[in-house]
Amino acid sequence: MELTRRDFLVGAGAAATGGCTALQSSHDPNLMVFLSDIHQHDNTVRWKNGPTQANEVLPRLVKEILSLRPLPANAVVFGDFSASCGWVEDFRLAAAALKPLSDAGIALTLGMGNHDNRSSFLKVFPEYKSRLLVPDRIVSKVATPNADLIMLDTLKSREGEDWAEPTSKGSYVDGTIDVAQREWLRGTLAAAKRPTFVGAHHHAREVGIVKDIVTSPTAYGYIFGHEHVWDESVFLTDGYGNSQTVQAATLPSGGFWGDIGYALFRTFEDRAELTVRQTDFYFNRRWQGKPRPKNWDERVRAHDGRTVTFWYDKPGNFYRG
Ligand SMILES: [Fe+2]
Repeated sequence: MELTRRDFLVGAGAAATGGCTALQSSHDPNLMVFLSDIHQHDNTVRWKNGPTQANEVLPRLVKEILSLRPLPANAVVFGDFSASCGWVEDFRLAAAALKPLSDAGIALTLGMGNHDNRSSFLKVFPEYKSRLLVPDRIVSKVATPNADLIMLDTLKSREGEDWAEPTSKGSYVDGTIDVAQREWLRGTLAAAKRPTFVGAHHHAREVGIVKDIVTSPTAYGYIFGHEHVWDESVFLTDGYGNSQTVQAATLPSGGFWGDIGYALFRTFEDRAELTVRQTDFYFNRRWQGKPRPKNWDERVRAHDGRTVTFWYDKPGNFYRG
């Protein structure tokens, strides 16, 4: 019987933790699943003709994740829970769609995107209040036996509206990291003794943290969402002459538009691997029922199962000392 890429993903998960031990264990502590841009929309409340394709796709992705053996110990969402302005109803839909993961014993770690609203988020996920590592920011950490993942909060609210109820204006599309969060990140990376990965909704360049990551001796990767594309060709560098580039990757969307799917992140003693599971590609629901462009299927075939490796191997800065 021919192995499909799906078989490969499940089998690789079992192999990653080593033979019989893995089969006896229901959750792999070194395996995480990454979702991003899940963009839920409750069109019974407002924007009645709004996009709901992600509402249908996300539960299917969750169901597939739950078929993995072993299960990932952690699931991380890289922001954009809402399709529009961070309405609390959108967060409720997201919480319902993600609940089967936590019901299965998978710990959820959640980050903010530009379509989100911190006030709505904490109404639906109040348990998160005790997890915040930076005051007033949805910043948290996931520890695996081999490495840590820091999830930053790059949501840029309108002036004075950090904790305001959402409005139809929404937040800014671009991201930001304020002084307090930047100082916390610098201190955390400076003190880190273990391989560390940094995650956020926006690109590190956009929020001005490339140098902090590149020059950290233990930061080995940057993973982000927002683009709705799988792209493992991204790397961080703070300029010609600095040899300490850091591998980066963007995640597919959990159902809204673009590359559709999730990614599996496995940490090892000497590296981590991020493997994309891409189930589809589309732009928006206006395409439904129309001829499907051929390059969409080609894109799915080209991406599904691709892996990028983050080696724990950081050369010193040969040029600047
Ligand atoms: Fe998005």
